[in-house]
Amino acid sequence: MDYIESKRRNDFTRKIALAAGATALFIFMLKWSSDISVSTKFSTHEPGVTHVLVTGGAGYIGSHAVLRLLKDSYRVTIVDNLSRGNMGAVKILQELHPEPGRLQFIYADLGDAAAVNKVFAENAFDAVMHFAAVAYVGESTAEPLRYYHNITSNTLLIVKTMAAHNVKTLIYSSTCATYGEPDKMPITEDTPQVPINPYGKAKKMAEDIILDFSKTSDMAVMILRYFNVIGSDPEGRLGEAPRPELRDQGRISGACFDAARGIIPGLKIRGTDYKTPDGTCVRDYIDVTDLIDAHVKALAHARPGKVGIYNVGTGRGSSVKEFVEACKKATGVNIKVEFLSRRPGDYAEVYSDPSKIKNELNWTAKYTNLEESLSIAWRWQKAHINGYDN
Ligand SMILES: NC(=O)c1ccc[n+]([C@@H]2O[C@H](COP(=O)([O-])OP(=O)(O)OC[C@H]3O[C@@H](n4cnc5c(N)ncnc54)[C@H](O)[C@@H]3O)[C@@H](O)[C@H]2O)c1
Repeated sequence: MDYIESKRRNDFTRKIALAAGATALFIFMLKWSSDISVSTKFSTHEPGVTHVLVTGGAGYIGSHAVLRLLKDSYRVTIVDNLSRGNMGAVKILQELHPEPGRLQFIYADLGDAAAVNKVFAENAFDAVMHFAAVAYVGESTAEPLRYYHNITSNTLLIVKTMAAHNVKTLIYSSTCATYGEPDKMPITEDTPQVPINPYGKAKKMAEDIILDFSKTSDMAVMILRYFNVIGSDPEGRLGEAPRPELRDQGRISGACFDAARGIIPGLKIRGTDYKTPDGTCVRDYIDVTDLIDAHVKALAHARPGKVGIYNVGTGRGSSVKEFVEACKKATGVNIKVEFLSRRPGDYAEVYSDPSKIKNELNWTAKYTNLEESLSIAWRWQKAHINGYDN
């Protein structure tokens, strides 16, 4: 009896041990296989490879940045919600670099904390270039809360998530709109920042968040304050293709091209009574190829615990009238021009002093001929009547 009882107990213990062993093996295999399935080149740091998260990489400037980063052998992840960007641009970049581990696209909204955290948890980034933003001065005066949310609050979330996941380098897209309308030209990085529209204010607040955080961390930070960006890839692969519904908000180059193509009847110049040589606004136009070169140099010079703030402009202002003349020459079309009253939130004259970026990052603008930059952009526009066709 004792013998039978003890045998039963032994059998039972053996079965339990077997079951426990099998369960442990099963859990181990499950974990191993799931690790394998999520482990990609993007999710692990690789010596000698710098993985850059490009927010807004489907947009105008972001897509040009991705093109250059891929050319320079960086690993790139684009995060974009396609609210304003073009999947067509992403497809072109993917076709140029189909090799595994070069480029991935993640559809996500940077206002969604859980989605942003997931992106950082599943990928091993070395640096972030934060381009994503809504970026129209006129729209910002009409929809200020949208701008504070999209620019300021989303930047706060990016910085917080970078810190949580130990991502150490941030290159931030800021703007000369943070300076407002200074008394003295040219604008240096020490010119007081007194923005006069919600777009400039939202960007200035985002800068402040980044700068205050940088005092408490060893994050490497580069803030680039762009002036007016024009042009496109000289090899004609990418261009500027804003949504048709944003045409009215438009930047001047887009409006010139639309007028040259007959999509709009002509150009509206808003404001002819500014205190400038010909009465129209004066701006510093920086070619996107030069702008992206400044980002690559900023990334190369970024150092832990250090902050760099740089104007990215040519140092030379051109009036709207001069711009329109250059556009007429570049397109070969005698664009009709209508002169209207000022647009709210605009300022008379803005041009940069780019000497700091020249001295510290060895960067200078090379594409400084308006007509040439516009001719390059026009070639793309003519060949892409419907933008990226999306
Ligand atoms: N274009 C200029 O002249 C200029 C001048 C100064 C500064 N900037 C700055 O450069 C950056 C890029 O501007 P751009 O001209 O390429 O604009 P863009 O509209 O072409 O690109 C912005 C991209 O960000 C994406 N995006 C916007 N909100 C998002 C969100 N919540 N989540 C995910 N993606 C989002 C859009 O879909 C778009 O692809 C912006 O930060 C802008 O403020 C631009």
